[in-house]
Amino acid sequence: MDHSSCSNPSEVLITDIQWKLTANFKAKQIVGCVGLSAAVKIDGCSKLVLDMVGLTVSSVTDTETGALLEYSVGQASFGASLTIKLPEKYRKTGSVMRVGVEYTTSPPPESGAVQWLDPPQTAGKQHPYLFTQCQPIHARSMLPCQDSPSVKTTYTAEVSVPRDLTALMSARVVGKTNHGDITTWKFCQDIPIPSYLIALVVGCLESRQVGPRTLVWSEKEMVDKAAWEFSETESMLCTAEEIVGPYVWGQYDLLVLPPSFPYGGMENPCLTFLTPTLLAGDKSLTSVVAHEISHSWTGNLVTNRTWEEFWLNEGFTTYLERKIVAKLHSEKERHLCYINGWKTLNDAIDQFKSIGKLELTPLIPKLEGVNPDDAFSTIPYEKGSAFLFYLETLLGGPGSLDGFLRSYVNKYKFLTITSVEWKQYFLEYFKKQVDEGVFDSVEWDKWFYDPGLPPHKPVYDTSLADISAALAERWCTLSEATEDSLSGFSESDISGMTSMTLQEFLNQLLSKPKIDIPILQGMDTVYKLSKMGNNEVKLRWQRLCLKSGWSEVIPAVVDFITTQGRMKYVRPLYRALYNCGEDGKALAVSTFKKYKEFYHSVAANQLAKDLKLT
Ligand code: BES
Ligand code: ZN
Repeated sequence: MDHSSCSNPSEVLITDIQWKLTANFKAKQIVGCVGLSAAVKIDGCSKLVLDMVGLTVSSVTDTETGALLEYSVGQASFGASLTIKLPEKYRKTGSVMRVGVEYTTSPPPESGAVQWLDPPQTAGKQHPYLFTQCQPIHARSMLPCQDSPSVKTTYTAEVSVPRDLTALMSARVVGKTNHGDITTWKFCQDIPIPSYLIALVVGCLESRQVGPRTLVWSEKEMVDKAAWEFSETESMLCTAEEIVGPYVWGQYDLLVLPPSFPYGGMENPCLTFLTPTLLAGDKSLTSVVAHEISHSWTGNLVTNRTWEEFWLNEGFTTYLERKIVAKLHSEKERHLCYINGWKTLNDAIDQFKSIGKLELTPLIPKLEGVNPDDAFSTIPYEKGSAFLFYLETLLGGPGSLDGFLRSYVNKYKFLTITSVEWKQYFLEYFKKQVDEGVFDSVEWDKWFYDPGLPPHKPVYDTSLADISAALAERWCTLSEATEDSLSGFSESDISGMTSMTLQEFLNQLLSKPKIDIPILQGMDTVYKLSKMGNNEVKLRWQRLCLKSGWSEVIPAVVDFITTQGRMKYVRPLYRALYNCGEDGKALAVSTFKKYKEFYHSVAANQLAKDLKLT
């Protein structure tokens, strides 16, 4: 049962979508016509129920006969329902039909998945831009559909845009035609995918080829920088293939979006979407690409059946991402990722605790009446991947899950899955080990259903983290910042560190009682942390300064949270600012109000909740 959809796929199932749309940049609306191929699953089925939000429907037809169909629009928990009356002749098991719906989307601020950018919001400043973010339940704001990850369909699309702009989708480009000043781009995705993986971008885009199956796309202003940053993509793809089997989607392109893109990355098939905050200039943040590549198997081939089972997408993907890191770098670095992740897990649990929502902290939370955007956190990523790491350890260490993963993906590809089914297949696959008692100590139900930290913390190799911890310890035992006491520190303490170990150093400091401002000042004089461009470092450094109440950092914080809209960065920083006394609170609220239009609606909605404005 999918609590986030009001559609009825068990009665009548959509199997293919044919979408025709025009992007009207003036009105900031999509004018669309969607064809839905539907297969009736039960006798007497009288209606097709679709999810939508903010859509104005003008007609519904049986595209076979051209006959108009009766429909009604109702309220649903996460938007609206579109109930279409099925003609008598289709009301039996096995019938297939095609329904056509003509509609327009709602303009901002209610535009849901779509963010419409005016030229000044783009790097080139000349042309408008639009991009979508459908996961988890925003596809319904672009087109009426069965907006549940349990429903997988193929799709085709014809997208009409102003002639000087390029349209791209989570699909293969199959054609392009011009008529006057309009270009129509044609797409085809012939692998069945859930609605949350439908994606569209329209903008003045350029590409660079960085591998045999990879183009890096962005506005021309940053395309060369992006191509350089993501040059390792093909080797990541090959590494993933070695672990889980062939990449079946053909092309694997990357798109670097404008700075308001609300996530680090989004695994849209054939075209991963990335935040420009990854462009560190030294390839230090590219594990996000390894992550999105991994979704090509876990998530996009094998899909969580509901958003309660989200860890089957993200936990598995994080596990795979870190295996790629280990193969390309080292096993020690993989362990450091897990140590960093354990800290993130603790933070996420604390955060839910502080807002009285501990019920959202189990690996498989109950989401009845809960918007999956509100439940989103790093818990499914970190608890999920720690669980798999723990099972790997029980089975004998690195590599011991590889055969299983390959077999699991092969068995469940093109399908959707639940944790119970996964566990059943896991125990079947490892029958011999089950009989030997390898899993006797595993508290499955606690891992799955208990709130808070998991019942067992895996043992990680701390050798890289220890270096960071020792340095953090030296700073914390400093009682005052004098020339003498600072003389024991130098730039060389951190110059040899990777971005991950530097992050770990800052994580260590963040988990200690607050540090005196003069000591932070001293640290900045020696290490120049406030000047560093790496955004993961910036996030942690600014949090650390705010925690100590060092108000001089505030202009830099405001700059950071108003020039990019990645939720991972803006949410904790807005919250930290909000908690800096009455002035901090007022500044957080006024800054948000001033920049509200800059953020994607998903981020704006979460920020409004964080700042208690709704
Ligand atoms: N699929 C997610 C992004 C997402 C999750 C969008 C839920 C909407 C709802 C993507 O694969 C992801 O996990 N991105 C991470 C990066 C990753 C390295 C942890 C992010 O955005 O930071
Ligand atoms: Zn992910």
